Amino acid sequence: MAGLTESPAWLALRQHAQELQGRSIASLFEVEPERVQRCSAEAVGLYLDYSKQRIDARGLQLLLALARQQGLQDWTARLFAGEAVNSTEHRAAYHMALRAPREARFQVAGHDVMADVHGVLDRMYAFAAQVRGGAWRGATGEPISDVVNIGIGGSDLGPRMVCRALDEVADGPRVHFVANVDGAQLTAVLHGLEPATTLFIVTSKTFTTQETMANAQAARRWSSALLGEHAIGKHFVAVSTNRAEVEKFGIDAANMFGFWDWVGGRYSLWSAVGLVSILALGPERFGRLLAGAHAMDEHFRSAPPEQNLPVLLGLLNAWNTNFLGARTQVIAPYAQDLEYFVAWLQQLEMESNGKGVDRAGHSVDYATTPAVWGDVGTNSQHAFFQMLHQGPTVQPVDFILPLRASHPLQDQQRMLAANCLAQSAALMRGKTAAQVRAELQAKGLAGAALEEAIPHRVFTGNRPSNTILLPQLDPYSLGALLALYEHRTFVQSVVWNINAFDQWGVELGKQLAQSVLAAMGGDGGGDLDSSTRALLGRVRDAAA
Ligand code: F6P
Repeated sequence: MAGLTESPAWLALRQHAQELQGRSIASLFEVEPERVQRCSAEAVGLYLDYSKQRIDARGLQLLLALARQQGLQDWTARLFAGEAVNSTEHRAAYHMALRAPREARFQVAGHDVMADVHGVLDRMYAFAAQVRGGAWRGATGEPISDVVNIGIGGSDLGPRMVCRALDEVADGPRVHFVANVDGAQLTAVLHGLEPATTLFIVTSKTFTTQETMANAQAARRWSSALLGEHAIGKHFVAVSTNRAEVEKFGIDAANMFGFWDWVGGRYSLWSAVGLVSILALGPERFGRLLAGAHAMDEHFRSAPPEQNLPVLLGLLNAWNTNFLGARTQVIAPYAQDLEYFVAWLQQLEMESNGKGVDRAGHSVDYATTPAVWGDVGTNSQHAFFQMLHQGPTVQPVDFILPLRASHPLQDQQRMLAANCLAQSAALMRGKTAAQVRAELQAKGLAGAALEEAIPHRVFTGNRPSNTILLPQLDPYSLGALLALYEHRTFVQSVVWNINAFDQWGVELGKQLAQSVLAAMGGDGGGDLDSSTRALLGRVRDAAA
C-alpha cells in the first residue's frame, strides 16, 4: 500500500514510540505490576507472555488498529478461502488444508481439495506401514533399515526439523537428510549405509532443483553400482508436483507422492514432503502433528485479535522492527531437540517476508523482515548472549521453553528452565552503575580500579522478549508451534503489504550459477564481471 508510513495508524504508532522512548520495560511493570495478566495469551496448550515487550496498553491498541487498517481480518479470510493470495504466481497458499480433518471443506478455484489431500495421506500411511512393518523389501529381499531424504530448502528443513525434534519417540527406520550440493554431505551420509537396505526419497516440488537432482543422480549411481539399475523401483521413491520429471528420472508414478502448486515449499512439511517424517514417526504421531497445527489454524482464524497468538506475535515483531528500530530477531529455543527450528524459521520468515516491494510492486520505505537468527539455550548463552545483554543495538528475543522434559534428567530440566527465565529477566532488568558499584565495593574494590571496572559491568537492560511455553515437545504441541510461526509470518506480511508466498529473490543466483558452471566447462563466461572471471580462473586452475 503506497503511503503506509503516512497512514493514520502508522503515524500514531510512530508518535507513540517517541512518547515511550524514555520509558523502560521495568517502569511499565512498576505502574502495572500485574501486567503479565494483560500481556499474555494462551491457545492450543501454548502460553505466550509478552509482558517483557517495550509496549504499553495504548501501544497495543494502536498495533491492533494498524492490523485493522491493513485489512488483516479480510486477508485472513481470503487466505482460508483459498484465494490466490500469492498474486505474482496466481496461487492460493493453502497449507492449512493439508492438516485439516477429512470432513473439512477447503476449496481452491471451486475444487474441494480434501479428497486429494487425504488420498495422498492414505497412500503415504499405507506405504509407511509397509516400510516400517518390513513388508516393503529391497532388491535383495531385505527390509529397509535406513531412509535418506534428498531435498533442499522447504523440501529438507521442515522434515529435518520435525524428525530431529521428535526423535525421542521415533520408532521407524533411521532417517538421514542430504541437502547440500557439496558432495561431502552425501558422502558422509552414505558412509556406513548398505544399498540393499537403504531407501531414498527424492523430495522436490519442481524436480528440477540443481542440488537435489545432482544428489539424486549420485545416490542412484551408488545404489545401482551394487544392486543394478533394475533396483531403482525398490530403493527410490519421489515426492513432487512434477510427474513428468519424476518418470524421466526413472521412478514409477506408483512410487510418487504428489502435492499441489498451492503448497509453498517452506509451508510443505505437512504435505507429502512429510513422508520421511511419517516413516520415522509413524502415521499416528504424524496425525497428531497435523492435529496440533490444525488447532492453531482454527485459533488463528477465529480468536479475537487481542488474544490471537499469531496476531500478537506478528504485531509485536512489526512494533520492534518498524517503531523501535530492531533489525534482527533472535530465536532461543530452550530445548536441544529444537536445534533445527531456527534454520526452518529462517527460510519461512526471510524467504516469505524478505521483500523490498509491496503487493503492487512499489518499493517500500519501511523495514520488512528482520534477520532471524539464534540457537538453542543454554549453548547460546555462552556464545552470542553477551551481545544481546551489552551490545549497543537491541535484538528482541523469542524464548521457547517446553515445560516437561522428554528425558529422565529432571534436575537438568529445572536448570534449563531456570536459565531461560533468568535470561529474559536479565535482558529486561539490566544492572545499573549504582548496583555494580555496591557489588564491587562489597568485594573490597575501591578507587581507580573500582571506577574503571564499573562501565564494563553495567547492563542497560530494557531489552524486549517474548516467552512461549509448551506443555512438552510432543507432536501435537510441535504442530501448534510451527503453525503459530507460519501464521505470524502471514500477519507480518499483511502489515507490510507484501506477498509472503513468492520467492523471486532466489532466481538470479540460480541463473548465474548455471552460467558460471557453463563457463567452468569452457563455455561462455564473457558476460561475467572481472572479479568473478578471476575467481573462476582460480577455481579452474585448482581443478586442472
Ligand atoms: O530456494 C528456493 C526454493 O524454491 C525454495 O522455496 C524451495 O523450498 C527450495 O527451493 C526447493 O525447491 P524444490 O522443492 O522445488 O526442489
